[in-house]
Amino acid sequence: MQKQSLKILAVAPMMDWTDRHCRYFHRLLSSKALLYTEMITTGALVYGDSDYHLKYNPQEHPVALQLGGSDPKDLAHGAKLAHQHGYDEVNINCGCPSERVQRGAFGACLMNEPRLVAQCVSAMMDAGPLPVTVKHRIGLGRGESFSFVSDFVGKVSEAGCRTFIVHARNAWLEGLSPKENREIPPLKPDWAYRLKAEFPDLEIVYNGGVKTPEDIATHLNQLDGVMVGREAYHNPWILTKWDQFFPVGEPMNQELDIPTKLSRQWAEEQMVIYMEQEQKLNNVHWSSVARHMLGLYHAQPGGKRWRRVWSDHKLKNMTPFEVSKLANKALLKEIALIEQREVQNEPAISTF
Ligand SMILES: Cc1cc2nc3c(=O)[nH]c(=O)nc-3n(C[C@H](O)[C@H](O)[C@H](O)COP(=O)(O)O)c2cc1C
Repeated sequence: MQKQSLKILAVAPMMDWTDRHCRYFHRLLSSKALLYTEMITTGALVYGDSDYHLKYNPQEHPVALQLGGSDPKDLAHGAKLAHQHGYDEVNINCGCPSERVQRGAFGACLMNEPRLVAQCVSAMMDAGPLPVTVKHRIGLGRGESFSFVSDFVGKVSEAGCRTFIVHARNAWLEGLSPKENREIPPLKPDWAYRLKAEFPDLEIVYNGGVKTPEDIATHLNQLDGVMVGREAYHNPWILTKWDQFFPVGEPMNQELDIPTKLSRQWAEEQMVIYMEQEQKLNNVHWSSVARHMLGLYHAQPGGKRWRRVWSDHKLKNMTPFEVSKLANKALLKEIALIEQREVQNEPAISTF
């Protein structure tokens, strides 16, 4: 495949998944991917421990904070905090269909209120210098109306939002769980392309069902960026292909000493060091970190055994270094068994 000039390649915001440990791990695999936090509600920032919610590792840059909320004042407060904490972007969630989020009158249901979203964008831009972006769906419910999403993007862009991340399927606000809402409403990439044709000056980033570098290339040919969610989490090694196939200029993150030839083993070693630091500095048990790297050997020989060791609760009193040694022993044993089976199955050399 030909190398492409990089536009935006992002790992999607995912609740319970893309916490700071997960982002640290993803950053080891790609120096350039734009990493998003999980959605953080404005309520958590106004009434909760905002330093705790906004904490991240400097290595994570470039990193975007996703906010959930619909009150311009509270979102402006969030944007201000995001700037103070050094985030690179602040994003409004207009795509989450969960009932909890609907009760709070934000997420996907905000697509019915483009003027309110525009006010939120204005307030956030007034609150600080960070780019304000919006992540949204292409419609609500089972109806199909391109003018609905183009009207939304048009009105919100008038307030100054230049980047729209389009999860290119409708959100059905009744009758589907959030998980089903990521699977059942059909994907319509061409609607994202139509948005780009209608608003050529805006950055349109595609999201939904992207798995391979080829998928990424297809969308990048039409749009300004691609965001990947589930595949990046379950099969994180794909992130290493991103720097390889879609490079431009110098790596954005200079702080990590990433070897030019990455290996899964190197990534695991780095994570073990990180787990030990987190335990010491923040009293975080290694299992809260390790859960995010369980896909490292996805579809690799021995990968299942390696994963089983890292997710074995019976090992929770061991150090991450000890668990890593056991996991690699299991991995190598399985590889040796596979090789042995292959040798046994080889046809005998005929001797006439
Ligand atoms: C576990 C999980 C949690 C998610 N949480 C969020 C979230 O906090 N904010 C958001 O905008 N989207 C959230 N999403 C949706 C993803 O960002 C993305 O739009 C969706 O998964 C489609 O992309 P994909 O097909 O590449 O996974 C979540 C998805 C998953 C799987």
